[in-house]
Amino acid sequence: MPTTEAEIRPARRLGSIIALACLALVLLGIAAMLVWPRAVQTAVSPVGGPFTLTTQAGEKLSDTDLRGKPFAIFFGFTRCPEVCPTTLWETTQALKSLGPDADKLRVLFVSVDPTRDTPEFMARYLQSFDSHITGLTGTEAEIAAIGKAYHVYYEKVPTGDGDYTMNHTALIFLMDANGQFAGTIAYEEAMDARLAKLRKLIAGKEAS
Ligand code: NI
Repeated sequence: MPTTEAEIRPARRLGSIIALACLALVLLGIAAMLVWPRAVQTAVSPVGGPFTLTTQAGEKLSDTDLRGKPFAIFFGFTRCPEVCPTTLWETTQALKSLGPDADKLRVLFVSVDPTRDTPEFMARYLQSFDSHITGLTGTEAEIAAIGKAYHVYYEKVPTGDGDYTMNHTALIFLMDANGQFAGTIAYEEAMDARLAKLRKLIAGKEAS
């Protein structure tokens, strides 16, 4: 047992160092517990989820209305200069190639620019593409919710003249007849691969 001042001081110092180290470990542990499950959840939370949006015909469409038929869904906006018209055009070509099987699939184009993409505007825009493609729009909150469910990124980018454009995820998400995520089609993916994935989706097999 230390009894003198000289002996007690280093012992106390050692004690407080150990106490501080323990406290730091406990705090690290708490921080890890708070942050880690959220990180894991974000990484594994499934693509897709409930939504209710408005079609270009002005009708409500919910995820539950889609049960029983697989669907392909992608996000964009009608004023998109390149990615969206290209995706819509390639999807139109793919649907044409599917022939009668195209009826076994739904294709949804969700606007990430709902303020400008009214149902009327969507209807006019989609006349240039395959009639199987349903345009969906909604309130900012409704679009934010479905964007979050599909892990979609989109952002308003000012163009300097008081106008703006949108940056957005260019993937097509493939969802099975139960509304479960079944794969993706990348922007400008080869038509053969695109068709193979759509045929698999229609057949009820998992597309990768
Ligand atoms: Ni686009």
